[in-house]
Amino acid sequence: MDADEGQISQVIHNLVVNADQSMPEGGTISIRAENVFLDSGMNVPLHRGRYVKIVIADEGVGISGEHMQKIFDPYFTTKQKGSGLGLSVSYSIVKRHDGYIMAESRQGSGTAFTVYLPASAGPGASDRPAGPPAFRGEGRILIVDDDEMVRNSMAGLLSAMGFEVENAVEGGEAVGKYRKAMESSRTFDLVILDLTMRGGMGGKDAVKELLRIDPHARAVVASGYSDDPVIARYRDYGFVDALAKPYTDKELSRILSMVVKGPGTGA
Ligand SMILES: Nc1ncnc2c1ncn2[C@@H]1O[C@H](COP(=O)(O)OP(=O)(O)OP(=O)(O)O)[C@@H](O)[C@H]1O
Ligand SMILES: [Mg+2]
Repeated sequence: MDADEGQISQVIHNLVVNADQSMPEGGTISIRAENVFLDSGMNVPLHRGRYVKIVIADEGVGISGEHMQKIFDPYFTTKQKGSGLGLSVSYSIVKRHDGYIMAESRQGSGTAFTVYLPASAGPGASDRPAGPPAFRGEGRILIVDDDEMVRNSMAGLLSAMGFEVENAVEGGEAVGKYRKAMESSRTFDLVILDLTMRGGMGGKDAVKELLRIDPHARAVVASGYSDDPVIARYRDYGFVDALAKPYTDKELSRILSMVVKGPGTGA
């Protein structure tokens, strides 16, 4: 995908914030990304070709039919402190990338935004010497961090790589989500735990809990303090790896290639 990374992450950020704000009582935001081929007659006003399709869905209040006509208009907002610019900016960014953004909603049960972005095809994409392939993988990842910006940017990055991502704001919530996922046989392949989280269980205690309910749980500890003893001796605490914040794509890829389902591992 040829895209301005900063702008596209802004689009994802705007959509995730909206999804979050649509669920004042909480709920799950799911983010998926996949490669698709659009053929003519597929109901999307785009040229036929390869696209990356990103879907961000919430379980929030939904959007009425009347409002649906206006959500992409500049300054349209139903929020007391909204500027009404999030979606109109997102719309122009996607448009500038020759993509398409659309919303589907059922009032009271949630909204899904779908973004299509052209897969690499522009000048430079095909005749560029083949570099190392961008990391791709599949599996379910739980991101646990009290910082919304970190959660959102990680979720954007990981879902663009093909992972299914869920979030938690502290260790207690993470353990709850992990247990629930196990019960429905949709165990997480990886948990990325922040070391310290305001007003909640930190990474060190959370990994203990996770290993208690699932001895095979794979957790990576993340921290901005690279000199913390937990980071230095992560194995002693039950982590499979450590990640220094802020994460770079390269660091993430290294961790992911270690822990993620490879073809045939059946993990
Ligand atoms: N996921 C969603 N669920 C329900 N309503 C939504 C959702 N996303 C957008 N909307 C509706 O669309 C309107 C416009 O969204 P937009 O992001 O452009 O502005 P905003 O969120 O109101 O303000 P800003 O993003 O500038 O803080 C929202 O006020 C809301 O009514
Ligand atoms: Mg918004």
